[in-house]
Amino acid sequence: MSAPEPALLAACRERRARVLQQLRAAGGGVAILPTAPEAMRNRDSDYPYRHDSHFYYLSAFTEPEAVLVLVAGAEAGADRSILFCRPKHEEREIWDGFRYGPEGALAAFGFDEAHSVEELDARLPALLADRAVLAYPLAASSRIDRQVRRWLDAVRTLSRSGVAVPATVLDLHNVLDEMRLFKDAGELAVMRRAGEISAQAHVRAMRTSRAGLREYHLEAELLYEFRRHGAQSVAYNSIVATGANACVLHYRAGPAELRDGDLCLIDAGCELDGYASDITRTFPVSGRFSAAQRELYDLVLAAQEAAIAETRAGVPYNVPHDAAVRVLAQGMLDTGLLDRNQEGTLDDVLANGSYRRFYMHRTGHWLGMDVHDVGEYRVPGLAAAGTERPWRALEPGMVLTVEPGIYVRPAEDVPERYWHIGIRIEDDAVVTGGACELITRGVPVKADEIEALMREGGPR
Ligand code: GLY
Ligand code: MN
Ligand code: MN
Repeated sequence: MSAPEPALLAACRERRARVLQQLRAAGGGVAILPTAPEAMRNRDSDYPYRHDSHFYYLSAFTEPEAVLVLVAGAEAGADRSILFCRPKHEEREIWDGFRYGPEGALAAFGFDEAHSVEELDARLPALLADRAVLAYPLAASSRIDRQVRRWLDAVRTLSRSGVAVPATVLDLHNVLDEMRLFKDAGELAVMRRAGEISAQAHVRAMRTSRAGLREYHLEAELLYEFRRHGAQSVAYNSIVATGANACVLHYRAGPAELRDGDLCLIDAGCELDGYASDITRTFPVSGRFSAAQRELYDLVLAAQEAAIAETRAGVPYNVPHDAAVRVLAQGMLDTGLLDRNQEGTLDDVLANGSYRRFYMHRTGHWLGMDVHDVGEYRVPGLAAAGTERPWRALEPGMVLTVEPGIYVRPAEDVPERYWHIGIRIEDDAVVTGGACELITRGVPVKADEIEALMREGGPR
C-alpha cells in the first residue's frame, strides 16, 4: 500500500478547512461523511471496491467502512478532523490485505483523531451534542439517513439532561459539489495523465481494428492499455459499437463483428487515481471512410470545433452546445437529412427542434472524479418566481467534455447512403482564461489523420 502524496494530503486538509469554515459560518457544528459501501456481485464475489468520491476528496482514504467527521469549533484552532476506519485485524489482513487501522491512518493521513469504526455509535452522540448544525449527505442514501436518525435519537435521549440537538441540517453534498467543480493544480495533473492514457488506448484500438475482429476484441485492447499504464479502472463501461450499433447511445462492447465498410464508435476512458477521462472516436473499421461517412464525420468535427471555440471563461455553459447544434442543423439541411421543403430554414429547424431526430443529447457535461461530475449547470441558488435560473458562466479550473454527434436510423425520408451511420467525437477540455486546453488530443481527430494512423497498422 503506497502512502498518499504529501501534496494530496495538503489539498485534502485545505478542503476540510473550507468545509469547516462554512460550518462555522452557518452557526458551528459537525459534518459527517461516510465512504461508499462494498457491493456484492454474486454469492461471495464482490465488485472491485470504489470509494465514495466526496469522501475521497476530503480524506484521500480509499478503504471501505470509513466515516469522516469534521467538528467546527468556535474558532478555527479548535476544529477537529476525525476518521473512523476499520481496525487492524490479523486474520482479515491475511485474506483481504493491508488495513491502516486508526493508528496507521492517523500517522499517514494527518487527521486530528482516528478511531475504530466500531466506536462510531458510541462516540457520535457526544460529538453532536450542543451543536447548532449537522451537515451530511441529505437524503442521498437510506443507509446514511438511518444512521443519522439513530445518532440524533441518542442525542435526543440526552436532551433531558439539558443537551441541545442540532436544529439545522445542511446538505454536505451541496457544499462539496460546488467545491469539486473547480479543479486545483493537483487534480488537473491527474486528469491530464488520465486523458493521455485514454488517448493512447484509443490509438491502440484504431491500430488494431480490422474486419473480422469483434467489438470485444477492441475493448480488450482498451483495457490492456488502461491497466498497463496504472489506471485502476474504467471510468464507465466502455462503448465499442460497430455498424448500426453506433446509433444506440448506451450500447456496450458486444460480440458484433467488425465489417469492412462500417464505422466503429468507441466511447471509453480510464479512471486514474480517482479521476475520470471520457473520449469518443469514430473510425472506419478498415481504415478508410466512405464518401458518405466522411461527409458526416467532417460535419460532426466542424460542430465540435465550433463548440470548442466557445469553451472559454466567461461564456455561459449552454453556448458551446448551441454552437454545435447550429453547425449540425445546417449540415442536416445541406445533406438532405432534413428536407428543406418540409423543415424550412436553419432558424426554423433550431426553433422547432427537428435536428433532435439525429442529435438527441447535449454537447457535454462536467468531468472530474465522476464521469458525469457534480456541480450546478445553472447559477446556484433559487430562481425568482416564474423564471428559470440562467446558465452559469464557464470559469477557469472547470473541466467539461465536448461531444457532438449524429445518429442516422433508416427511414424512407432519409437518404439511404447515410443509414446506420452513428458518429460522435468527444474530448475533455479544461477551461482557462483563453482558449480551452484539450487534454485528450493524444489520439487523432481529423479524418485524414485517423486514416494515416490506421495505415501504419498494428498496436505498438
Ligand atoms: N461516456 C459517457 C458520456 O460520454 O457521457
Ligand atoms: Mn461524455
Ligand atoms: Mn463518453
